[in-house]
Amino acid sequence: MQKFNIAIDGPAGAGKSTVARLTAKRLNFQYIDTGAMYRAVTWEVLRRQIPMDDEQRIAEIAAEMDFSLETTASGTKIYVNGRDVTEEIRSEAVTSHVSAVAQLPSVRDVLVAKQQKMAAAGGVVMDGRDIGTKVLPEAEVKVLLTASIEERAKRRLHEMRAKGIQTDLERLKREIAARDKIDSERSVSPLRKAKDAVTVDTTGMTIEQVVENILDLSRTKV
Ligand code: C5P
Repeated sequence: MQKFNIAIDGPAGAGKSTVARLTAKRLNFQYIDTGAMYRAVTWEVLRRQIPMDDEQRIAEIAAEMDFSLETTASGTKIYVNGRDVTEEIRSEAVTSHVSAVAQLPSVRDVLVAKQQKMAAAGGVVMDGRDIGTKVLPEAEVKVLLTASIEERAKRRLHEMRAKGIQTDLERLKREIAARDKIDSERSVSPLRKAKDAVTVDTTGMTIEQVVENILDLSRTKV
């Protein structure tokens, strides 16, 4: 089959990573979670106690990071310079600071260049906020995944409970709304629907239905 690329964008908790991973598996493509890359940079910044507004230093750190992603049956592992940081990057501290790091233009330049390189040979399903608009504007298939805040917060609650982490729905709704606001209002590469993207509202849909929807789009577009 011809190697094309699929760009999946959307707000926090819209189901992008699960859907992108399963779509990649069905097509035998590589899944690239760009949010994990912004999270890994944030984790390193917190670990080194670098001020969140030290743009130049954070961009240098991002440039030195070598990312590799490995998809397993249950999820995706991310390694930075050979170290498995899969668990660390999902911490509350990283989640609450990642949007601040992701709005720094020089950091985005560094990560976008790395992401473009990863997708250069095709055969990639990439998810994030700016994939269809900025990272892969030529992607053959572009999807904007959305769902109501209520539904997105409920999904996060289930995910966290499954991992034994206690939290409540209202808190998750506030956290998701705050991240949505920064991600969609920032001046550099805000979350936007690409002109040629198809919006899929996943509220009330099963993961399998969403994956089938994207596979159908792939068949018609390629
Ligand atoms: O996808 P996930 O929720 O893990 O992304 C974490 C954060 O990384 C987002 O809230 C956003 O601030 C940032 N991000 C981004 N551009 C991307 C992917 C993620 O700005 N392509």
